[in-house]
Amino acid sequence: TKPLRIGIAGLGTVGVGVVQIVRKQAALLRARTGRDIQITAVSARDAGKDRGVNIATYDWEDDPVTLARRDDVDVFVELMGGPDGPAKAATEAALDAGKDVVTANKAMLAMHGQALAERAEAQGRVIRYEAAVAGGIPVIKALTEGLAANEITRVMGVMNGTCNYILTRMENAGLPYETVFQEARDLGFLEADPTLDVGGIDAAHKLALLSSIAFGTRPDFDGIEIEGIERIAIEDIRAAADMGYRIKLLGVARRTGRGLEQRTQPCLVPASSPLGQLEGGTNMVVIEGDAVEQIVLRGPGAGMGPTASAVMADVCDLARGVRITTFGQPANTLADAPAAVAGVP
Ligand code: NDP
Ligand code: HSE
Repeated sequence: TKPLRIGIAGLGTVGVGVVQIVRKQAALLRARTGRDIQITAVSARDAGKDRGVNIATYDWEDDPVTLARRDDVDVFVELMGGPDGPAKAATEAALDAGKDVVTANKAMLAMHGQALAERAEAQGRVIRYEAAVAGGIPVIKALTEGLAANEITRVMGVMNGTCNYILTRMENAGLPYETVFQEARDLGFLEADPTLDVGGIDAAHKLALLSSIAFGTRPDFDGIEIEGIERIAIEDIRAAADMGYRIKLLGVARRTGRGLEQRTQPCLVPASSPLGQLEGGTNMVVIEGDAVEQIVLRGPGAGMGPTASAVMADVCDLARGVRITTFGQPANTLADAPAAVAGVP
């Protein structure tokens, strides 16, 4: 069997994690997929940067679009980030050149997921994005495969590790917002633009993707009511604790009689509940379906290893020929899919 050849654009936290897994787990990946997984070319901004991993054996491309079009790349792995710019240009170039794409880029997919999926479909290609939601938790696989027979009624949870880290650390250590924000930065949880995290936007990007899979709608980021944690003070956290509650930034999407309700906002949750007990940068996603009733998935929502684990899960599926995708399927584009309605009370 031929090797699966991947090209990686973006060698930051996640990209380096992917290179490390491909190098360290070559035998395991071959055993699990029946094929060798080879990196043929890589791209990032600074060719001279020491990334703590040996990339000298791969071809270097300054331009991610050129990398995306290379004949010796079967799967383009986009790990640069950003909703537009080089990430979108290179993803489009890869699809147009007939490559499958794996990405961790929730911002790009929340904004352009449907258009990119239609572009992929036109070429008979797929876009996979397990890492884009809840990092290392295989929540997209759970929804698309494990819960395929369920009508989903609600998806909710803590989908931004930075906010959970900040809120729990403020409470547990009695530290001010600014101090724990810096700690979260040092831990590598933060987006390049941290207002995406603390403003609730990153969680909303993820909710838009989960919601679209769960309810068969187009990703509807604009339909989400968004509030972040910037205005939560230590006094709010203490007052909640006095009543037996904790404050969590929750993303919630649920079916209502009037369509789909989607919100990302700070919520009071009972301190004794699974969500209330969630500490640090951990994520938790609760999914409710008519047959399964409720499942709870918990795990690391960010970081090098966990996020690279999810990226590689998609690469492994493509190596095995598993080509399930989630946007661009008929259910997502039918006019009679449930309308997305923001802010239904
Ligand atoms: P980093 O900022 O650590 O890395 C980004 C990489 O992209 C860098 O290697 C950078 O190059 C490269 N890059 C940026 N702009 C360009 C450009 N114009 N041309 C070529 N290369 C470019 O990001 P992360 O690894 O943290 O995140 C990558 C993606 O994964 C994002 O979409 C993010 O939202 C997502 N993600 C991240 C998680 C995490 O825990 N970090 C978790 C889940 C998803 P250089 O190194 O030379 O500067
Ligand atoms: N900034 C994100 C978070 C990274 O804190 O959850 C993972 O998507």
